[in-house]
Amino acid sequence: MIGVLGGAGTVGRVVVDRLAGRYELRVGGRDLERAAAVCPTETARPVRVDLHDPESLAAFCDGCEVVVNCAGPSYQVLDLVARAAAAAGAHYVDAAGDFAALEALRGEPVVDLGESVSVFSAGLMPGLSGLLPRLLATRPLTRLDCYVGGAARIGELSAVDALLTRGPGFGTPLVGRRGKETMPLAPLQKVALPGFRGKVHAWPFLSAEMDALATELQVGELRNYTVYVTESIPRALAEAWADGGPLERHVPAVVAAAEDDLAATGPYYTLLFQAVPRAPASPGPRRLTLRTPDSYALSGVVAAIAAEEILHGRVKPGAHLAADVLDPAAVLDRLSGDPLVTDVELL
Ligand SMILES: NC(=O)c1ccc[n+]([C@@H]2O[C@H](COP(=O)([O-])OP(=O)(O)OC[C@H]3O[C@@H](n4cnc5c(N)ncnc54)[C@H](OP(=O)(O)O)[C@@H]3O)[C@@H](O)[C@H]2O)c1
Repeated sequence: MIGVLGGAGTVGRVVVDRLAGRYELRVGGRDLERAAAVCPTETARPVRVDLHDPESLAAFCDGCEVVVNCAGPSYQVLDLVARAAAAAGAHYVDAAGDFAALEALRGEPVVDLGESVSVFSAGLMPGLSGLLPRLLATRPLTRLDCYVGGAARIGELSAVDALLTRGPGFGTPLVGRRGKETMPLAPLQKVALPGFRGKVHAWPFLSAEMDALATELQVGELRNYTVYVTESIPRALAEAWADGGPLERHVPAVVAAAEDDLAATGPYYTLLFQAVPRAPASPGPRRLTLRTPDSYALSGVVAAIAAEEILHGRVKPGAHLAADVLDPAAVLDRLSGDPLVTDVELL
């Protein structure tokens, strides 16, 4: 039995779709009718659950082999569902979470995960953004450039994620990494990038995920950019940060700004990674491009893959970020065969 919490949401319904028919599913949310509407087969059962109600959350997790959490906002949920899953002896996958949730689970009160697995950041960004560049690190790299973005409708939960990128905790805008230090980076305005449509705007953001990756791979220099097709979202974020106040107040402006991007190019999302090896002539791939029409749905595909990898015993027990424990080649192989991935190039 796999429990998909938030299974009627934008990300969750794709998790349900990819796992339905092959596993028994419990699809959870506060609105039973909405959960029922995404249950495609008799082996998927809707369950009313509010993650803030400990009894209903414990009942939802009870009897599950894996609980996949697609409900948020992640900065509030943190390790709450992961702890309930662990108490029920279930493995756990979170489409979001990042280091903040991982650290919360590793903190007090101490959780004995035993043989259970907890995996956070099993989505696109964070998730694939930290996993796929590893395919280029087959030899030491002097430089790794990462560009992730495009045009996508932004949900309210993800608008909060975007507002949190101001830092601290989730990353630092306008810097990259050189050696062990940060270095200032300027936005790239109106640039042409392989895999992106027309001229785009690339905003430097040293996410916590990319900072950790730079340390692990020991790359000389790492530049990570969030890519927008117009300047509407960076402008909305800058105005929100200048204005201050509760994050939630600025969510509508960020959601509206994403519509400008969609109007400009239609929906598309690209992950582009470019590597410069330390030994210039060394063999191995130097560029990876992956494209999808729907970044949210692709996060659901990643969360579903993570759940299956855990069920097949291919993830070691303990609490991790998905990028640290999934096999990048195996995930890319699965993604290549998924209808939501329109293009993969590893050159
Ligand atoms: N890593 C990535 O790249 C990535 C990308 C996109 C999204 N995400 C993350 O994925 C998560 C889902 O995003 P989304 O856009 O799919 O959100 P969404 O469309 O708003 O869906 C959220 C789902 O959670 C349920 N839910 C909300 N509050 C709940 C509660 N208290 N108890 C139980 N269920 C609850 C909702 O159903 P009810 O209203 O019926 O309860 C809904 O089905 C977020 O944490 C987001 O940050 C990650």
